[in-house]
Amino acid sequence: MKNAFVIGHPIAHSLSPVLHGFWLKKYGIDGFYKAIDVPPDELNQFTSRLRSGEFVGGNVTLPHKQAIFDLCDEIDPDARAIGAVNTLIMRDEKLVGSNTDHLGFAANLDQMAPGWDEKKGTAIVLGAGGAARAVLVALAVRGFTQIHILNRSAQKARDLANELPGPFSGHALNEFAELAGAIHLLVNTTSIGMHGTSFDNLPLSALPKSALITDIVYTPLITPLLADAQKAGLRIVDGLGMLLHQAVPGFEAWFGTRPEVTSELRDLLIEKLRQS
Ligand code: ATR
Repeated sequence: MKNAFVIGHPIAHSLSPVLHGFWLKKYGIDGFYKAIDVPPDELNQFTSRLRSGEFVGGNVTLPHKQAIFDLCDEIDPDARAIGAVNTLIMRDEKLVGSNTDHLGFAANLDQMAPGWDEKKGTAIVLGAGGAARAVLVALAVRGFTQIHILNRSAQKARDLANELPGPFSGHALNEFAELAGAIHLLVNTTSIGMHGTSFDNLPLSALPKSALITDIVYTPLITPLLADAQKAGLRIVDGLGMLLHQAVPGFEAWFGTRPEVTSELRDLLIEKLRQS
């Protein structure tokens, strides 16, 4: 039997066991995926358990996504650029850290808005934290020619734009109206939207009618930003799919089957979110 995990602290509300449990059952795999609460001072000890062969790998969530870096034998280049590890794989007795969030972000849009990256145009990314980094890597990989990072702290946006390799520029949030006219894609990576919070001043009417709006927040599924975009007649994609798709490469690496993100799985997660 192959075992995998998600570690974090706290971890009780993680949806990953539901997601991987669904696929294990669907594909008839003799495996197990469980949530393990690992406090920060026990992370080192946990990696020894991992090296002993108890697990094929697993996911890493808060607060371990950076701390795990120094405990891995190898870090893949995307995880290094993003500055966080969300997936661990035991490969040839080596502990390999990777990050699948950028793949999940792009795969969600591939599924829900096919052709979203065909124009290779201009994007606005709201936020300059850890989540923004994964989205920025994804957009650079997909060939966007101009990517504006807008953040409450403009300096943080400018620093990130200078640090990452790609066509990035950093701005303050209040430059939105000025930049919006030429935008193909708008992505929110800030925590605004969670539990119904909204941006103070984000004039979506300044966006072209063809713009696609997506949010990586999925609680609620339709954030105030997405609701406003919908009202303005713009195309939207919610953030739940990013969670589903970021899990695909890990599952494939651990269990040897590439799982499918289906509407049945999405509905199951929506039901779990409703219950939580
Ligand atoms: P994550 O890893 O989820 O991206 P983070 O690294 O703490 O979390 O980043 C949070 C992002 O949300 C930042 O861009 C933050 O803006 P600042 O850098 O200016 O702090 C943004 N954010 C959080 N709360 C915000 C708010 N009330 N208004 C505007 N931006 C906010």
